[in-house]
Amino acid sequence: MTLHNQFQRDGFLVLEDFYTPEMCDRLMERALQLASSFERDTSYSVFQTRNQSATSDDYFLNSGDRVSCFFEKDAFDEHGELKQSLFQSLNKLGHAMHDLDEVYSAFTRSDRMKELVRELRMDHYVAIQSMHIFKHARIGGVVDVHQDSTFLYTEPESCVGFWFALEDATIENGCLWAKPGGHQTTLRSRFRRKDGGGTEMIVLNEEPIGITDMVPLEVKKGACIILHGHLPHYSQPNTSGRSRQAYAVHLIDPLAHYPADNWLRREHSTLRIL
Ligand code: FE2
Repeated sequence: MTLHNQFQRDGFLVLEDFYTPEMCDRLMERALQLASSFERDTSYSVFQTRNQSATSDDYFLNSGDRVSCFFEKDAFDEHGELKQSLFQSLNKLGHAMHDLDEVYSAFTRSDRMKELVRELRMDHYVAIQSMHIFKHARIGGVVDVHQDSTFLYTEPESCVGFWFALEDATIENGCLWAKPGGHQTTLRSRFRRKDGGGTEMIVLNEEPIGITDMVPLEVKKGACIILHGHLPHYSQPNTSGRSRQAYAVHLIDPLAHYPADNWLRREHSTLRIL
């Protein structure tokens, strides 16, 4: 069975040993360098998946073209000061490292990736968004069950996520969970910009997404997991003493319509294929 057929059947693929540990280390080092450049940046934005209104500030909405940092919701004390170092407080970096930073671009546009998107018949797709997810030890928060097309909606739908384990991902440190074949369902909601500012979640189908039958996708450092835009997935908080860093890139078909009220906008740069 081809990778393309397997992806259509299951809604996800797990490719172990996709990248070398050295490539993963290089990306984590680069994230640390970028984080230290934020030390004097005062515009903090807390990334909370459970309270989307808290993410609707300008910092978030303008991050589609930038390298911005987002913090864990428990990172600040009652006086608004970070409880730990800035790096240890980060939830993620986003959302345009793959176009603005050479190290991220090389990781995203490797020969291996070019070969993979060809096999998946996505070689004309564009990389619209990148995220470096830290999931630090003990502070790394939950990501509630969701479908990626909710956040990157096109007509017809085309969003596909490429998720790279930069460190071993286990049940203890908050690996991804998904159900084989779970993508064969409707899109439940759409996250979009509201007229007059801010964002809103539009419910398309009220039927809840169950998390029964979901399996943990435990993978080794260097693995690549490909996720269909309809596939419900989530991850639990990291209660362990080890971080679970990952890098995620989302691709869309540039031939599909990209609505102007999608939260993510690329206003100052051109979208590129891999
Ligand atoms: Fe996701």
